[in-house]
Formats: sequence, C-alpha cells, structure tokens
Amino acid sequence: MKLWGGRFSKNTDQLMDDFNSSIHFDSRMYRQDIIGSAAHVRMLGHCGIIPAADAELIRKTLFEILEDIENGKVEFETSAEDIHMNIETLLIARIGDVGKRLHTGRSRNDQVALDIRMYLKDETQTIKGMLKALLEILVNMAEEHYETIMPGYTHLQRAQPITFAHHLMAYFQMFRRDIERLDDAYKRMNIMPLGSGALAGTTYPLDREMVAKELGFSAITENSLDAVSDRDFVIELASCLSMIMMHLSRFSEEIILWCSSEFSFIELDDAYSTGSSIMPQKKNPDVAELVRGKAGRVYGSLMSLLTLMKGLPLAYNKDMQEDKEAIFNAVDTVKLCLPIFTRMLETMRVKKSHMYNAARGGFTNATDIADYLVKKGIPFRDSHEIIGRMVAYCIEKGKNIDEMSLDEFHTFSDKIDKDVYEAISLETCVNERKVPGGPSIESVKASVRSGREYLKGIQ
Ligand code: ARG
Repeated sequence: MKLWGGRFSKNTDQLMDDFNSSIHFDSRMYRQDIIGSAAHVRMLGHCGIIPAADAELIRKTLFEILEDIENGKVEFETSAEDIHMNIETLLIARIGDVGKRLHTGRSRNDQVALDIRMYLKDETQTIKGMLKALLEILVNMAEEHYETIMPGYTHLQRAQPITFAHHLMAYFQMFRRDIERLDDAYKRMNIMPLGSGALAGTTYPLDREMVAKELGFSAITENSLDAVSDRDFVIELASCLSMIMMHLSRFSEEIILWCSSEFSFIELDDAYSTGSSIMPQKKNPDVAELVRGKAGRVYGSLMSLLTLMKGLPLAYNKDMQEDKEAIFNAVDTVKLCLPIFTRMLETMRVKKSHMYNAARGGFTNATDIADYLVKKGIPFRDSHEIIGRMVAYCIEKGKNIDEMSLDEFHTFSDKIDKDVYEAISLETCVNERKVPGGPSIESVKASVRSGREYLKGIQ
C-alpha cells in the first residue's frame, strides 16, 4: 500500500511504478533527506505540534536509518517511489504509528525543495574546493615561469611575446571568477523552503526559523508558491558549471595544441596520457580531449533545465522531478574533470626553449621595432609601414628581424642604431610591458601576489 494510497481502490501498475519512480537517482540525497526530517521533527516536538517523546524517537530512528544506509544495510524500493517516501516507509516499518507523525505540516513538495538545496549546497562547496586547488597549482606554476617567454596569439597567429606565467594567470582569473559565481549562486541556494507545504503553507504553527538555523540556512523563503516551484538555484548552478567547463575546455584545447609536434610547447606526463593500439609512436592527450568533450554534457544539462522549467505553471509539477538527473550529471562531470585536469597540468613538462624559439620566429617583436622608431621621432603609421616592409624582407630572406645586420636595417631607416638589438630582444619586449596586468616579470609577480591574497581569503 502506498503512503498516499487512501483514496485509491487498486494498486498502481508495475509500468506506472517504474515510470514514476525516481529512487534510482534521488537516493543519493538520503543524507540530506534524513537530516532535514530530523530538524523538522525536532521543531514539531519543540512547538508542541507532536508529543516531544515521539519527536525524540523519530529523530533517533532516523539517525539509525542513516547509519544503516551508510553501512549498506538498506535496500530502497521502487514501489516507494522516491527517497522521501522510502525513508518514511523505513521509519514506519521500524516504529509504527509514531513514525506516521513525521510528515505533519510538510509536503514532499517543500521536502524535495529542501533536500535539493541542501545537496547542492554541499556539492557547491566541494567544487569550490576543487577550483581552489586548481588556482593554487596555477600560481605555483606561474612562479616558476616568470621568465619563460612564449608567443602570445591572436587569431591563433603569433602576435606579441608574453610569458608562460602570464598565460597561466589568465586562467587563474577565469577560475577565480568561477568561484565568485559559485559563491553568488550559493547565497540564493541557502534559503530554507520547509513550511511551504504542498503550495499554500500550513495551518500548524511551525517555527521555520528554528529549522533554518539547525540546518545552517541563512534565511527562510518568503512565498510558499515560489518556494515549491523555484528551481532557479539549480539552473544558476548549472550555468556556473557550464562556465567552468567552458574554461576547462578552452584550456584543454590549448594543451592539445601545445603537445602536438607542430607546437611542441609541453609534454604531458605518461601517467596522464594514452597510447594508440595501432600506431606505436602515439602519445595522446586524452584527458584534455575528454574534458573538452564533456563540456557538451554540462551545457546539455543547462539546456534541459531551462527547457524543463519554461512552461510550468505555479506551483509544483511533477516535471520538476526531471531536474535531478540533469543537475547531478553536471555536478558529477565537473567533479570528475577538475581534479584530473589539475593533476595533468601540474605534472606536464614545459619545453621552455621551444616556446622561446616560437616567440622568436613569428616576428612577435614587430610592434616593438615600430615603437622603437616612434621613439626616434617617426610617426607610428609611417613606422608601421617601414616595419611591414622589413618583415616582408625577412620572410623572403628566411631570417628573424634580430638576425639582420645594421647595414640591412639602414636600408629601411637611417634612424636605426645598434641599440636596436637590445630594444627588440624578446626579454625587453616582455619586460617593458610593465603596465598593471601586463606580462613583465614585475606585473605578473603583482598578479600572483594578489592571487595568493585571494586564495588566503577563500573559505
Ligand atoms: N520525487 C519528487 C520530485 O523529485 C518529489 C516530490 C513529489 N511531489 C508530488 N506531489 N508528487 O520532484
């Protein structure tokens, strides 16, 4: 007999049970469901809504059930539909009629809203911790590479020299924003919905604040209809997770390019690479490729959730049960990707000389020679034109600008002296860019310092 079986004269069909049941995916919220129920029942006892002794027994038994679940002693039943009714069924099986008092002043609609908030609060903190670990690796690596010169790109064409530290710290900024976004989403997750009932609250004099306090919520929801039908916080989290995956995916794309022979900027550690079953020479960046690929499934979750919610009238609708697999999959995927990506990054070998040579080879100092002429009194547009011709000459001769003799330089401008070699060295090009946020050693050191400060403040 179903917990809601009173008005029905026959059992549900097996097909119906299988279709309707969510236990195979919502059982993972067992802990939140039990802790939420324990807080609810304590409040019921405290407010005199049920006898205090009953409340105590229910609470005690709920924690016993929790322990049994954790020790693998409990089997959930499809016929009990979802985690909420499975736990309640177990409770009633153990303590009979007393257990039937637990659901007083509560509906599964506010209960599921509570559980999913609690579950996602925990997961958000876990993911934040993983992002923090990644940020720590990024600043550690940046400190090793203040002087590792590499080409910076626009249009994937070599543009101007930067350092590997500068490049790494760009990702630091992205993942830092991801943490800030999670913090912001967390604020709206952290509101307690219990007491909203099915949709219209309850006539029992519940102390909602007491429950919120016990469960560590910062406030209670202010509208019962909204509280049971709001999944904005799920969508917001999915959006934060999509952004994290987008960042990981861009980084992955660069790693994949960098370990190709064409770039050859890095080599991945054997422990985080794979071989080919047919081509003996292959060493493939599977981690980065899988991370890039998995971004798709997280975006998919976000799209599913937005679409799921767009046509729902107030308040609760069963469609909303579909929110769980989508957000769980997104959460699982991000939790799978972040740690392995971090390990792959910290174990990879950086080929400094290859990076340096690539920066030397691509005329990445062309802007600086133009600026050199500007400092000698030539208007920028004219100097741009002169250097353009110089580059064309070098391409024809197959040399770099800094390989030209002074005589060759003079065929382009008599303003060029031998100090040009110093002025256009890659080291000068990088380190004269002292502007805050720029690639010079001192600018990047400042950004690492501020990054470390930020990391200290994260809780
Ligand atoms: N399993 C349901 C869900 O995930 C719980 C709420 C069910 N409420 C109801 N009125 N049928 O949404």
